[in-house]
This record gives sequence, structure tokens and C-alpha cells, in this order.
Amino acid sequence: MFGGVTEARRILGIDTSCDDTGVGIVELAPDGQVRVLANRVWSQTVHAQYGGVMPELASREHVERIDDILQEALKEAGLALTDLHAVAATSGPGLVGALLVGLMYGKGLAQALGVPFYSAHHLEGHIFAAASEALLQTPYLALVVSGGHTHLFDVPAPGRYDLVGATRDDAAGEAFDKIARLAGLGYPGGPAISEAAQRGDPGSVPFKEPLQGQQGFDFSFSGLKTAALLAHRGGATPENLAASFQQAAVKFLVKTTVRAARALGRRTVVVSGGVAANAALREAFQQTGLNVVFPGKGLNTDNGAMIALAGAAALQAEKAPSPLTVGAEAYAPLANT
Ligand SMILES: Nc1ncnc2c1ncn2[C@@H]1O[C@H](COP(=O)(O)OP(=O)(O)OP(=O)(O)O)[C@@H](O)[C@H]1O
Ligand SMILES: [Mg+2]
Repeated sequence: MFGGVTEARRILGIDTSCDDTGVGIVELAPDGQVRVLANRVWSQTVHAQYGGVMPELASREHVERIDDILQEALKEAGLALTDLHAVAATSGPGLVGALLVGLMYGKGLAQALGVPFYSAHHLEGHIFAAASEALLQTPYLALVVSGGHTHLFDVPAPGRYDLVGATRDDAAGEAFDKIARLAGLGYPGGPAISEAAQRGDPGSVPFKEPLQGQQGFDFSFSGLKTAALLAHRGGATPENLAASFQQAAVKFLVKTTVRAARALGRRTVVVSGGVAANAALREAFQQTGLNVVFPGKGLNTDNGAMIALAGAAALQAEKAPSPLTVGAEAYAPLANT
């Protein structure tokens, strides 16, 4: 129990940071246990023809879809709007126009319902997505491997994020996407590479481990990308390329994270973001002997439930609600520096 609260509370979360309209609902029990009641995501398809996300189109699509996605989430949870006790929405980082849609919608909803509003950091949301599977107790390491980030944080206490390492060039997900495109495997590249890799030989294309001998815990994927391009030109099949690249990327991510965990004396590692859906990455992390926590199904890539989970953590910590003047931020580092 906390703060004298004896009833379960239900938190709505909204994420419109990029090209997914996500609305989720979680229930926070008085003992701190959380349960995902709904998780609805509309992944915009309008950008496919441009080969990248068009910010203005993303904003418009969020505006057009968000009402429906909210209704779908309420239906999935079997709840009415009046059953909600708090609303959380992503304020950054992300595309400003896209962020604004969910942020303003969330603020308006909270105000209309007379419930507290919490703005959430997108990366904190990715980390809290793992709270669907286990109570996240500090200290722990958090590896966020997504389309835009490959960041390793030490989390010594709730709400404190010390940046331990980050990619020096591409994000892990970006490398999966670019190599999949090169190999003609389609988009999004992560699932496509993972699928093709099952039919390939992981030892067929030799990839050199990036940043070998570094003392720190940074990441880099540009060397793997160049090696993939050369192998592709040299006639490597898409399957062999996928299997070899996936193996190299997974090995590098796991090895660097394990070194950091040892150096910092951390036993628990949270691995989240879209690339955390990768089966080979999950398997390799399971074999490290560390206590590794991944988000539940459907919570790796962008979604609203992870923002609801971040909101639940704020509520549980009895944090003051965010002022309704909070704005959207394109660039918003999570680390306390
Ligand atoms: N099974 C998988 N294996 C590897 N990568 C995957 C898998 N599934 C998804 N991904 C990758 O995850 C990325 C999308 O993740 P996510 O939605 O968390 O990123 P994002 O929101 O675009 O970026 P950010 O959160 O950094 O702003 C894509 O690059 C996609 O290829
Ligand atoms: Mg994301």
C-alpha cells in the first residue's frame, strides 16, 4: 500500500511521438503491481511511399486516428472514460507536431475528467514497458535499443538515469532497417532480418566486432553497415547477410552490456525498445546469467501502454502532476547530467 491508497487505479497512456498512434491503459494495484488492460497501436502506413516518416503527414494522421484508438483501448479494457484515475502522454523526444497531438489530447482529457495529468519521457516509457513483466527495482542497467536510440543507462535510484554508453552513429534498429533495405527484405527491417536469418548461415559473412578494445560502453553500427554493403555487392544472399549481421549485432550489444553490468556491479538489466523484440537478442541475454527483464508482448515498439506504465510509476511515487503548460520537446535527453 502507498500513500493510504487502498483501491486500484487505472492510468491511460498516449504516445504519438513518431508514426504510431498508441493508447494504452494499465491498472496499478495498491501494492505497486501493474497490469496492462489495453494496448492499441495504429501504425501509419502513409509514409511507406516516401521511404521515411513525413512529419506533417504523421501529425495529421494522429489527429485523424486518436479518437478511434482511444475508443478501441477503452473497449479492450472494458472501461468507460470515467473509470480513469490519471492520464499520461509523451512530451518528448520525438517529432514536435506529432508529439503535440497526443500531448494536447491527453491534457484536454485529464482536464475534462478532473484527473491528474503526467507528461512522460519517451525513453523512460520504453524502459517502464518492462514493468509489465516484473517490478522494476533499482539499481539496474537499462539498455534502450530502438529505431532512434541505442542508449545504456545506469539507474541507481528511481528517476535517476546516468548515461553509461550510447551509439556513436546509427541506432541498432536503424541498422536493422538499413541492412534489410539493402538486402531487399522490406520494412520494418528488424522483423524482416529476424525472419530471414532463420534460413541463413550466421557464419557465412565475417563481421568485425565494432569498437574492439574500447574501455567504455559505447556502440557503433556504421562499420557493420559498410561490411554488409560490401558483402551484398560480393554476392551474399539476403538470408546469409541477415543471419550474419544479426549474430554480430546481438553479440556486440550483449557483450558491451554485460561488461557494463560487471563494471558497475549491476545484476538486473532491462532491455527495451523495438530491437528488444528480437528473439536472438533475447536468447543471448538469457544466457548471460544476469537478471534480464524485457517488455511484454506488443510493448517493445512504440505504444501507449508503456507511457501509462511510466504514469503509474509517477503516481505510485506520489509525484506532483505535470503542469498543463508543459510543452512538446523534439530533443530531450533522459540522462541527469
Ligand atoms: N524483431 C526485431 N528485431 C530487430 N529489430 C526490431 C525487431 N522488431 C522491431 N525492430 C526494430 O525496432 C525499431 C522500432 O522500434 P521503436 O518503435 O522502439 O523505435 P522508434 O520509436 O522508432 O525510435 P525511438 O524510440 O528511439 O524514438 C525499428 O528499427 C525496427 O526495425
Ligand atoms: Mg520509440
